[in-house]
Amino acid sequence: MDYCIYADNVSKSFGYVKALDGLSFKVPCGSSFALLGPNGAGKSTTLRILSGLLRPDKGHVEVCGTDVFLDSGIAKSCIGYLPEDALPFLNLTVKENLEYVSILRGLKDYEQRIIDILNDLNLKEYVDRPAGSLSRGNRQKLAIAMAIIHEPRVLLLDEPLNYLDIPTQEEVINYIKQLKSTMLISTHIMSIAERLTTGVIIINKGRVVWEGDIDGLRKLANPNERIEQVVARIMGGYFENA
Ligand SMILES: Nc1ncnc2c1ncn2[C@@H]1O[C@H](COP(=O)(O)OP(=O)(O)OP(=O)(O)O)[C@@H](O)[C@H]1O
Ligand SMILES: [Mg+2]
Repeated sequence: MDYCIYADNVSKSFGYVKALDGLSFKVPCGSSFALLGPNGAGKSTTLRILSGLLRPDKGHVEVCGTDVFLDSGIAKSCIGYLPEDALPFLNLTVKENLEYVSILRGLKDYEQRIIDILNDLNLKEYVDRPAGSLSRGNRQKLAIAMAIIHEPRVLLLDEPLNYLDIPTQEEVINYIKQLKSTMLISTHIMSIAERLTTGVIIINKGRVVWEGDIDGLRKLANPNERIEQVVARIMGGYFENA
């Protein structure tokens, strides 16, 4: 099987805080995985390392079959990364933000792509508005557009539905669902994991504590137990097979 996202024994500390502690996992090409874990578990740190923005102290990461830090040009061109609390350039308009990333990404003929993406994400009416004047939810949608403008093979999304109201969450879930990329999505919302992903990686204190598929997770539920409760049990370490 080909793996498009691969982390092997990755560790990262910030001073005395061990954010990642020998983290290993693989995401097969063409699949979508959820990255779950309690606050401070190391989800954002994992995604920042996979995107090439942060060097691990130890370990090895590959995206699209390429070492992210040895061949960073190749790896980065195949990655789309939505940071946690992503902020577009606030003094540029919506269109200028998208033109800017299109140029940085080396896209040609990006005008039509920008029009399509603005239509798909219902941002057309804001096209000439400075990003700083948008609501937080619309800024988030613009940040998503900026992460996927180049149709990346691998998408790393850190809490993509933050700030979105419920109808907009639906719209964005449906939009993300039809993208062809291999995805790793960090989220706290289990319904998102259930609808957007098949595989699940649960981490705590910088280590994988459970991995499998959504159906496997559902099967762990006791009668009348919700999937959120199963996940909370695993995260808390109150799980016999964890
Ligand atoms: N730049 C930094 N400087 C110092 N400590 C950091 C830094 N980035 C992360 N950490 C620490 O590393 C640990 C993991 O943080 P991380 O942001 O990866 O967690 P997370 O799983 O994304 O949490 P959340 O669900 O709250 O977003 C935390 O203890 C955090 O305080
Ligand atoms: Mg985070």
